[in-house]
Amino acid sequence: MKTSGGSDAAKRRAGESAAEVVDDGSVVGLGTGSTAAHAIRRLGDRVDAGLDVRGVATSFASRELAVDHGIPLVGLDEAVGPDGPGIDVAIDGADQVAAGDDSSALLKGGGAAHAREKLVDTAADRLLVVVDPSKETGVLDGAVPVEVLPDGRSVVAEAVRAAGGEPALRRAERKDGPVITDNGHVVLDCAFGPIPEPGSLAATLAGIPGVVEHGLFVGLADAVHVGTADGVCVREP
Ligand code: 5RP
Repeated sequence: MKTSGGSDAAKRRAGESAAEVVDDGSVVGLGTGSTAAHAIRRLGDRVDAGLDVRGVATSFASRELAVDHGIPLVGLDEAVGPDGPGIDVAIDGADQVAAGDDSSALLKGGGAAHAREKLVDTAADRLLVVVDPSKETGVLDGAVPVEVLPDGRSVVAEAVRAAGGEPALRRAERKDGPVITDNGHVVLDCAFGPIPEPGSLAATLAGIPGVVEHGLFVGLADAVHVGTADGVCVREP
């Protein structure tokens, strides 16, 4: 699993805190990454203790972890289809959270799972974001992961440059060539510097032909669980 900076103890507190507020009978979106993984493990413990939940995975990795921890799964189509139960709550990590922004805009996609994460997080009635304090920032300024059709990467890269960004194809670490997402696409990490208006950049990126999904999540977070050195701070934007 991809890991990022930040204390694992703080990530664990954040993930477990969100897992604790999941109600019996819920359908739960299972985010991707090392912090969401703590929530999945804690949910697994609660399932062992009798909690009745079903998970909707956001990636190969979150599905695998949920299966390992005994969490029954339901497919996204089945959950949100006309006769489906819907998704009550999603728990997901983030690479950055704009703490100074009322919408708590998120930058996601460090694990290249943001396309499916956005589907599940948007479909959920509530999104609980789980982070350690290193993820909080006044203004988002990380490179924005953009999942792209492989044949469209040069066209998209040109459009990103025209929008003021600098794209870099994400390379695999233990394979020659690019990272290939769970959906069979490639990722351009697009550096724009500070992003004071994430909603506006999100709309620009979404409008580029060849873009499957980008990692700006605006207006989706209902609560942010920040694990600290000795506890958890829950912020509701
Ligand atoms: C995966 C994501 C992750 O949620 C994000 O990268 C945070 O990961 P971590 O909790 O390991 O720092 O967006 O696509």
